[in-house]
Amino acid sequence: MAVERTFAIIKPDAVKAGHSGEILSAIHAAGLAIRAMRLVRLTPRICQGFYHEHVGKGFYPELEAFMTEGPVVILCLEGEGAILRWRDLMGPTDPAKAPEGSLRKRFGTHIGRNATHGSDRAESAAFEVGYFFSQAFDLV
Ligand code: CMP
Repeated sequence: MAVERTFAIIKPDAVKAGHSGEILSAIHAAGLAIRAMRLVRLTPRICQGFYHEHVGKGFYPELEAFMTEGPVVILCLEGEGAILRWRDLMGPTDPAKAPEGSLRKRFGTHIGRNATHGSDRAESAAFEVGYFFSQAFDLV
């Protein structure tokens, strides 16, 4: 399996509830390396650029209001098969459908407040890592 980089967010609900440490522990326990990490507050404009595939969908206004309501932790994770492994750790988008022990089951409350984000494929990972992190200054 190839070594990959993926992009992750600990969303405002999980940061506010004090779950960042447990989520970072799960990342370490899974053997994923953190290549970049920052606490940031998204603006509507930054959110629109990041979620450009979803702008115009019915749920987008709610998504933007949620993602800009408080600070988030943004991360670049690296490891063999990192994209799928991070998605497996999170569980499906809807916490109601997530398996016991997954991060979204543990810390999400519903599909619109689901604690974490992860890139869904290699193309989005490349876009999302590059959207927030500079190869020259942020990635170690
Ligand atoms: P995320 O993986 O960050 O990608 C887009 C987000 O939109 C998703 O998590 C959900 O939190 C949010 N969302 C809200 N409603 C829906 C919906 N009906 N379908 C898909 N995503 C939704």
